[in-house]
Amino acid sequence: MSSSCTTRTTRFILAAAVLFTTLNLHAVDYRLELVETEWELKPGLVTTAWSYGGSVPGTPIVARQGETVRIEVVNRLPEPTNVHWHGLVLPVEQDGPSLTIEPGATHRYEFVAGQSGTYWYHPHMMPVLPQLDRGLYGPFIVLAPEDSAYTADHTFVLDDWLLDAQGKRVEGLPAGAMERHGTIETVNGKTGPAVAALNVRSGELHKLRFINASTASDHTLRIEGHRFRITHTDGHALTEPYSTDTITLAPGERVDAELAATGTAGQRYRIASSRPSAGIVIPVVYGESRVAGVASPFVVPAPRAYQLKAGARPDIVLELGSAMGGGHMGHGGGTAMMRWTINGRSHPDTKALDVKVGKLVTMRVYDRDMMAMMMDHRMQHSVHLHGTTFQVLSVNGARPSGEIWKDTVPVPSRGYVDLAFVMTNPGDWMLHCHIIDHEDGGMMTVLRARP
Ligand code: C2O
Ligand code: CU
Repeated sequence: MSSSCTTRTTRFILAAAVLFTTLNLHAVDYRLELVETEWELKPGLVTTAWSYGGSVPGTPIVARQGETVRIEVVNRLPEPTNVHWHGLVLPVEQDGPSLTIEPGATHRYEFVAGQSGTYWYHPHMMPVLPQLDRGLYGPFIVLAPEDSAYTADHTFVLDDWLLDAQGKRVEGLPAGAMERHGTIETVNGKTGPAVAALNVRSGELHKLRFINASTASDHTLRIEGHRFRITHTDGHALTEPYSTDTITLAPGERVDAELAATGTAGQRYRIASSRPSAGIVIPVVYGESRVAGVASPFVVPAPRAYQLKAGARPDIVLELGSAMGGGHMGHGGGTAMMRWTINGRSHPDTKALDVKVGKLVTMRVYDRDMMAMMMDHRMQHSVHLHGTTFQVLSVNGARPSGEIWKDTVPVPSRGYVDLAFVMTNPGDWMLHCHIIDHEDGGMMTVLRARP
């Protein structure tokens, strides 16, 4: 090839590239600055938080499905961190845990938001609890084309805070506790009278996205005078959406629901947690006017269930448990009484799980937490796997109706769940309990996906 020809070819490619970037606006840019923030939970109650961008939750990241997302993360905190994009399927180097962003340093993440749905982000630097629990989390919403047909699209991030009466953070675990549960509960960083109302008019159809960012607490929300129509779990559309007045989320889980405004004009209703005095009551306030009814744009997804051999043994069997002592450093700085295990071992000594990229894997996860049982501490674990989406085949042997796809699933106390997944990207992917006390205490392992 002559050099002038090469030049012309290069020029052509450049022109095409320029044209491509001008026509194709499929990229969004975000900047997350990690800073210490004086955060007002409600008038008169201010606490010191760590945040992404000065607010709790942090800057919402919103992209359209298929868009490239570029996120510049600037660490202005006194300790190293990293960011995990919980639930998104990404190349492993964009996933978070494998890198360290030192104090004062900046890191740029860049990936394609390939799946629509409700996700979130948080640090993954061990121990995770002191950073996540101080308010470092934010919603990550990937819009599907039909989402724009709702009257409005709202995100509610739920959390709890362990504070003294002055709003000062109580460090470590309260005496006798195995997990850190808060005294105050928040939705979008606000509690009690500071929680923003959901303003609606009769006839409207609202999309509600719930995210549980608590490190250990479940949240149960009940709506008065209405039903939620549950459409998505962990960002994934249900083949059989259903109606309920109650939503429960384990740590790390998300639920999307439609709320048809069928209430009375001028009335007030509430979405309240099971412990309303702790601070989560979302007023649902009707205006006087009405609008013509909005039809649901929800599209029932095509079935994609994995085809499995009946009666086949799971490829991987995990037993979640606990043991006395072991001496990992608790987040208060002291030595924790308990350590948490997978197949009898605690991270980093757990045995890595080897899987092949592109190959269907079945996995059974048991809760065999005898120690917790003996201490009469029944608690479900909340198992999260990075790098993929799994199908929930059954819970305690019972198949769910329709297909359920998730990335975080509660394992019932003394029960088990059966899951199936395919790793599409090679890498070392974390599998852990999303009760962060358990994760930091060793209930974590690595899934090694190789070609
Ligand atoms: Cu949301 Cu490995 O975490
Ligand atoms: Cu757990």
